[in-house]
Amino acid sequence: MKPEGIGVDPRLEFAATIPSRCYSDAGYLERERLRVFGRTWQLVGRCEQVAQPGSYFTADVAGEPILVVRGQDGVLRALSNVCRHRAGPVATGEGTCRAFRCGYHGWSYGLDGRILATPEFAGVQDFRIEEHALPAFRVETWLGLVFVNLEPGAASFAETLEDLPAALASADLESLRLAHRKAWTVGCNWKVYVDNYLEGYHIPIVHPGLFQELDYARYVTETKALYSEQHAPIRKTRPAGSDRVAMAPRPAITGSFRTSC
Ligand code: FES
Repeated sequence: MKPEGIGVDPRLEFAATIPSRCYSDAGYLERERLRVFGRTWQLVGRCEQVAQPGSYFTADVAGEPILVVRGQDGVLRALSNVCRHRAGPVATGEGTCRAFRCGYHGWSYGLDGRILATPEFAGVQDFRIEEHALPAFRVETWLGLVFVNLEPGAASFAETLEDLPAALASADLESLRLAHRKAWTVGCNWKVYVDNYLEGYHIPIVHPGLFQELDYARYVTETKALYSEQHAPIRKTRPAGSDRVAMAPRPAITGSFRTSC
């Protein structure tokens, strides 16, 4: 999202950091929530969490509570996790079930989001149960990961990925399984963290171990329409004292060692 009222000079030598208010103004953050995170494909979990019929997990996308569930029909769905009665949570955490029961007044929903029961609601006029299923959002899977997009008219998942599937086709990433999870809460605007990720300038100082493994002089950042890629060849000779664990780069990843930090 281009900051409003801010010109962007495409010449690299004239590059400048966007104004500080873009990082600190709550109004910007709210607009980003709606226009960036609310309209793009967001990673919400892993396919192995919803491999079996009835398995589910909950997530949050741009402030919207989401319930990702594999139906008895085998279809993966991303449903609103907001009860149609008085907005109670339909599910919490993750697990396996045959139906969901809201924790507030007990309305129950099928795995496809349709209402199954509304206790003590008989006789309520103008209420048609079939009109109150949990809203469904777009959901896609790729490389064992689950993505959700709240915006019906947003670019398709395939358009968003551009040429990534071809670039990663033989990397066998789909066979990876979760072995360990670490989570940090970073006390900054999200762009501060992303800014760091988008450059390798800090690698010599912050990541000396990585620095000695890379041919830093050949570190390249490639900017695509919807994503960017940073890569550098790995040094052929193992530096003295190196605890290198990366093997020879896979051919499909253009002979590069991709970094994340
Ligand atoms: S809020 Fe869910 S049953 Fe009332």
